[in-house]
Amino acid sequence: MTKKQFFTQTLLDWSETQDRPMPWKGEKNPYYIWLSEIILQQTRVEQGWSYYLKFKEKYPKVEDLANAPEDEVMKMWEGLGYYSRARNLHAAAKYIANDLDGIFPSTYEEILKLKGVGPYTAAAIGAFAFGLPTAVLDGNVFRVLSRIFGIETPIDTTNGKKEFQALADSLLYQKDSGKYNQAIMDFGAIQCLPKQPVCKNCPMSEKCTAFKTQKTEQLPIKSKRIQKRERYFYYLRLRFKNKNYILKRTGKDIWQNLYEFPLVETTQIVDYKSFLQNKDVLKILPERREWAYIGSSKTYKQTLTHQKISAVFMEIELSSPLINASNDILEVDEKELTKFAFPKIIDCYLKDKSLFLKLF
Ligand code: ADE
Repeated sequence: MTKKQFFTQTLLDWSETQDRPMPWKGEKNPYYIWLSEIILQQTRVEQGWSYYLKFKEKYPKVEDLANAPEDEVMKMWEGLGYYSRARNLHAAAKYIANDLDGIFPSTYEEILKLKGVGPYTAAAIGAFAFGLPTAVLDGNVFRVLSRIFGIETPIDTTNGKKEFQALADSLLYQKDSGKYNQAIMDFGAIQCLPKQPVCKNCPMSEKCTAFKTQKTEQLPIKSKRIQKRERYFYYLRLRFKNKNYILKRTGKDIWQNLYEFPLVETTQIVDYKSFLQNKDVLKILPERREWAYIGSSKTYKQTLTHQKISAVFMEIELSSPLINASNDILEVDEKELTKFAFPKIIDCYLKDKSLFLKLF
């Protein structure tokens, strides 16, 4: 038996001994599989689980999702992060419902054309829903293969990606590609963990190059570490009696189409005194005697793929309703705030303030 044959056989045998129930396991409806794979793109299984069930219940058919209002879909997605996934999901649902007569595409190339679906997701959907011979390759698979086969080519290079894809393809169990793909995902999640992999009872260890050479900690290899951009968000939490002022984020930036308080962004930390003299802040605020500074929140932090966000909420009481020259700011009753989808960082702040009763 070659090492590759050993790998595939051992992986499938291992999967038989595992009990990792997940609501999308064994699912055959391509729409539901697609939904689960989009949710799981940047989200842990435990976190995605309830969202998957909630979406299935609210939108049992792809047409239901296609016909839903955008704000509702964004609200359903709230808390999952990486909101372009929700926008792409909605756009692709419309495309399937309207252009493909509601019939989910069944070839790898056609699945790949759906907005928000990359090679990994197309391979997963293709295999789970249609038994296509497509092997998944993601962070988990890079890790498993680099360790067992002792591959030191950096995974964030074109050559590395090609080499690993070719290896992944050659290992696929063609008779049941869905079972094989689920098994390698589960193996990466249960056994071959990023930190402290469970080598002690691992059926691969006798043939695992990293285990034998004590290199599990070093593999997989990345050639560069991305520098994250630091951004400082100062939100104006303006209130007049029980009125709050929010607006929708537009433009090409994070959190598109989510709501937020009026924002002034800086490239470094500022104290409240200089902040309240900032010309962009003064453009939003009414005349000086029309408002009172109440205080500022603690700093809320969120790390995204390429940036680190720090947010502080400046709480200001107005003595009359805000007059909004550019008309993009909405006046909303405090208890109505729950109806809008906010970025996680704002949700956390509102929850801390105990002003936010979650709808779900
Ligand atoms: N991550 C992406 N797809 C997955 C799946 N089907 N099961 C578990 N984790 C996943």
